[in-house]
Amino acid sequence: MTAPLRTGDPVVVNVALGTRAYDIAIGRGLLASLGERIKTLRPGAKAAIVTDETVARHHLAAAEAALAAAAIESSRVIVPEGETSKSFAGFERVCEALIAARIERGDLVIALGGGVIGDLAGFAAAAVRRGLDFVQVPTTLLAQVDSSVGGKTGVNSSHGKNLIGAFHQPVLVVADTALLDTLPARQFRAGYAEVAKFGLLGDAAFFSWLEANWQEVFAGGKSSESLAREHAIAVCCRGKAGIVSRDERETGERALLNLGHTFGHAFEAAAGFSDRLLHGEAVALGMALAFAFSARKGLLSPADAERAVGHLAAVGLPTHIKDIKGPRPDADRLMNLIAQDKKVKRGKLTFILVRGIGQAFIENNVDPAEVRAFLEEQLSG
Ligand code: NAD
Ligand code: GLY
Repeated sequence: MTAPLRTGDPVVVNVALGTRAYDIAIGRGLLASLGERIKTLRPGAKAAIVTDETVARHHLAAAEAALAAAAIESSRVIVPEGETSKSFAGFERVCEALIAARIERGDLVIALGGGVIGDLAGFAAAAVRRGLDFVQVPTTLLAQVDSSVGGKTGVNSSHGKNLIGAFHQPVLVVADTALLDTLPARQFRAGYAEVAKFGLLGDAAFFSWLEANWQEVFAGGKSSESLAREHAIAVCCRGKAGIVSRDERETGERALLNLGHTFGHAFEAAAGFSDRLLHGEAVALGMALAFAFSARKGLLSPADAERAVGHLAAVGLPTHIKDIKGPRPDADRLMNLIAQDKKVKRGKLTFILVRGIGQAFIENNVDPAEVRAFLEEQLSG
């Protein structure tokens, strides 16, 4: 973990991917600079902003004004909010709209929204005219610390989450932390699960810092007095940029970013991708289960497991199956969903397990019978 920030100047993190390298600019009020940043990067390009209805209501006018101030012509594609837009139908709609708006090679797609919009618009950008450049303007905490960086784009299949997609890196990420001021508290908290994930998977010092400073991260600073939120976002982006630059296509280390996701995706699917369990909440529950499962296997001390789960619970995230409202799935359903997950190879399950706080590792040989026994214990608890 690098030292906490001292000034309110934007932080710039580079994702070092050779000819596809790009910057992530992080800071309060950066949306106003979007047009100038794009003009410098792609002089003469026009842009299509893809966003959802809620984000459009809060932030589309400011984004369009920033482009107009730099004399960039723009059009807009607005989809309904939520996971249901991350679908074949949503993909078709965005692709057709980009073509209708005559967005050509050399122009830009701008994803203005949370992870749903980033994944959907990024995938449409990857496909339309065999590849358009795109810019991420993440508007949720989850998107600012995770989904806007790294080039994973795609939509869901009826068989599971993120099963159709492409690696397509953005050419720029502009994370304006002021946009989070309009984010509902529950959405902010869900995004915080991905912040904690960066500490839990590989940065014990950052996790300790979060334990001491999470309230300031949640409060956010409207002045430069508290830069805790910006610091947390910058640490996550640096961590992710490092992993992505070493393992862009997830042949190894990048899988660590899936900590909590195998259990989490199963519960998210079982809850019907609904607001019974938001994606970040599912990741929090999944991480708590990954720590409990690792402790059950004797890989880490119960004290470390309690510490990890205790922090997630302290911020108000779900850490136990009983925290999910509504009917509970049974072990059969969960095992079917886990088996459909893309991390299954030759009947063995791949899980991200932990040896301690900040010590996650990839285990490719997990026995499904052991997972089932663990889930049955958790379901009956
Ligand atoms: P989301 O995009 O659905 O946004 C959550 C809600 O907040 C939506 O209703 C949206 O309209 C609203 N919203 C967004 N910004 C707002 C703002 N500034 N003010 C007010 N409301 C706002 O959800 P999310 O949690 O950002 O993203 C979840 C998605 O991200 C999932 O589909 C997940 O699979 C994906 N994801 C992708 C990656 C990746 O690497 N590509 C990583 C993690 C998660
Ligand atoms: N959020 C997982 C990844 O980007 O690899």
